[in-house]
Amino acid sequence: MTTLLGIETSCDETSAAVVQDGRTILSLVIASQADFHARYGGVFPEMASRMHIEAIHPVITQALEQAHGSLDEIDVIAVTRGPGLAGSLVVGMNAAKGLALGRGLPLIGVSHLEGHLYSLWLVEGAEQTQFPVMCLIVSGGHTELVLMTDHLHYRRLGGTIDDAAGEAFDKVGRMLGLPYPGGPYIEKAAREGNPAAFAFPRAWLEGAHDFSFSGLKTAVLRELKRQAPDSHPGEAAPPPNTPIADLAASFQAAAVEVLAVKTVAAARVHGATAIFMAGGVSANKALRAEMEKRAGDLPVRFPPLILCADNAAMIAAAGHWRFLAGHRDSLAMDVKPNWKLT
Ligand code: KG4
Ligand code: ZN
Repeated sequence: MTTLLGIETSCDETSAAVVQDGRTILSLVIASQADFHARYGGVFPEMASRMHIEAIHPVITQALEQAHGSLDEIDVIAVTRGPGLAGSLVVGMNAAKGLALGRGLPLIGVSHLEGHLYSLWLVEGAEQTQFPVMCLIVSGGHTELVLMTDHLHYRRLGGTIDDAAGEAFDKVGRMLGLPYPGGPYIEKAAREGNPAAFAFPRAWLEGAHDFSFSGLKTAVLRELKRQAPDSHPGEAAPPPNTPIADLAASFQAAAVEVLAVKTVAAARVHGATAIFMAGGVSANKALRAEMEKRAGDLPVRFPPLILCADNAAMIAAAGHWRFLAGHRDSLAMDVKPNWKLT
């Protein structure tokens, strides 16, 4: 039995978790800064870093307490090395190094993207996974289509050529006058709207496993301007008669259709046994339903809501598999803000 302490500080969540064998979560603590950054309409990097410094020790202490243990029970420290905000990553990295040095524990730097994928291994039934698996990572910073051929082995097939899916949700949310981050608010507004009200464009990018969301975002902007030529979408709230629910539903329908159709097509071409979705946008119920509808008899798996967003349990889970594979990092390891999965 191996017990890992995972630490995640890549963006605006300070998180620590104690996870056994990459499978059982003994504790998970997430201190989110989202309410603070909401007033700026996005993450304010310098403040994110400062807030991680304030939160990191209480969060780690709480995670150990909730697991009814102490550092004495920890065998390995796993920490997010990148990608993410440099000033945020170093806070988690320095805390991890301090603990590893003080306790003489092995230290493992984990890719945040690999962490999102391993959130699927914290779910019942994960042991039965047969490779290859088609993975769609959809978050605020990433939209990546990756074929996982074995544990820790990935082939990147494509990704967004402009905005990440979550970024598009957040930008459109802002245009519609919804709070930050827009994703969950768009999903909520869309429930009351008609997804066929506006025929927004779908960027199919035939022949490539890539995605594009900037044209869709611009189409929503154009529609808002058409309805109210004197409005300033994104800067001022839309006029009271704006059909927010229909716009949200039509935008969401276009975004999730492209994500689902292209992921299922790639899964079939590459003989995947299942589709795995991870990252903040994989919390979206319309995306989950569309993916399942398009996949037919191909199983679709996604993490429970708490594990869709950034969290340290997924970092500990990925760290576990790296630990099993013999991976160890030195105390000289530095953060990699632009680290690619492959
Ligand atoms: O994985 P995550 O917490 O952080 C990153 O690594 O980026 O993802 C955050 C993103 C945000 O863009 C947020 O709007 C989006 O995930 N998101 C959603 C939903 N919940 C979160 N997007 C659409 N529908 C949702 N229900
Ligand atoms: Zn993330």
